[in-house]
Amino acid sequence: MKWLDNFFKQFSVDLGTANTMVYVRNQGIMIQEPSVVAISDRTKDVLAIGEEAKKMVGRTPMDIRAVRPLRNGVVSDFEVTEQMLRYFIQKAIQKYAKFKAFARPQVVIGIPSGVTEVERRAVEEAAMNAGARKVFLIEEPMAAAIGARLPVGDAGGCMIIDIGGGTAEIAVISLGGVVASRSIRAAGDRFDEDIILYARNVMNLVIGERMAEQVKIAIGSAYPMKKELETTIKGRDVLSGLPRTEIIHSGQVRDALKESIGIIVDAVKSTVEQTPPELVADIMDRGIYVAGGGAQIRGLDTLLAQECRMPVIIADDPMTCVARGTGSLLDDIELLKRVSVVSKYDSLPS
Ligand SMILES: Nc1ncnc2c1ncn2[C@@H]1O[C@H](COP(=O)(O)OP(=O)(O)OP(=O)(O)O)[C@@H](O)[C@H]1O
Ligand SMILES: [Mg+2]
Repeated sequence: MKWLDNFFKQFSVDLGTANTMVYVRNQGIMIQEPSVVAISDRTKDVLAIGEEAKKMVGRTPMDIRAVRPLRNGVVSDFEVTEQMLRYFIQKAIQKYAKFKAFARPQVVIGIPSGVTEVERRAVEEAAMNAGARKVFLIEEPMAAAIGARLPVGDAGGCMIIDIGGGTAEIAVISLGGVVASRSIRAAGDRFDEDIILYARNVMNLVIGERMAEQVKIAIGSAYPMKKELETTIKGRDVLSGLPRTEIIHSGQVRDALKESIGIIVDAVKSTVEQTPPELVADIMDRGIYVAGGGAQIRGLDTLLAQECRMPVIIADDPMTCVARGTGSLLDDIELLKRVSVVSKYDSLPS
């Protein structure tokens, strides 16, 4: 039924605080852009969304603001979130649905596990307004676990840590449900803030978010490395106000990140403590899986394994785990129904 498939092209969306990805059924991840919206303060108009808007962060003239509407892991700015979601869904429809006028896709959306009922509705309504025929919501840790190919429907326990931009989510999953979970605000954004503070307090250097992220990606680590790294850091001298370039070492960045990474480690430990012993035994056999962009901090697996006394595995392509997980549910309606969050649109005919 190829033609039918073209007609009702199905999508899934990972609505992340840092990046949004759209997965198109039978095609894979086709849109991957920063969750950033540029808005005019004067007219309140949306000027750019995604990649184009991110380029404006920290560089906007006085009357343009580049905002991340999901910054804190929840829908902090609903109207802008809705516009962003609509833009990405419409973009996918324009590109991938053959009969645009009729295309009302089914959409699966990953949402943070901590969101309130109101926020959940907000996301759902935004997707319906953007042209979806039916919306399934699925909690991000569940999606991440599926993306990491963990057998979430089995009776055994699986543990997943998803370290994104706004939040780190930790979950133990068994029989298609979340048995124990934690959501904390220590993740990629906070690592960047740690580096900004370090540069300012220790190096007398004022740097921006983008510079901090660059340093983190270039040399960020959680555990001492055989060969330590260094990179250049550019900013403005606190005293003279003039531009200055310095070398920063991986040991320094590790110091800067230590506290935030410690918070994640503690949350993982306490989640393990809350997990029934049978499931802990399964997790010991299978290992703890780590997904999300933040999973790429060097040596995080070694540190976690040492602290929690469990094997730790960084998922393949960790940043796209949630998107691939939601995407693979488009092919497994039974599992999708089992793991999705109950929707108020469920009673509508599909
Ligand atoms: N190589 C890397 N090393 C360390 N951090 C990285 C790397 N690449 C990306 N990141 C960080 O990963 C974060 C984005 O990850 P991801 O796309 O999983 O977040 P998200 O899904 O948008 O956020 P959330 O899950 O909190 O809603 C950013 O903070 C980014 O700086
Ligand atoms: Mg995420």
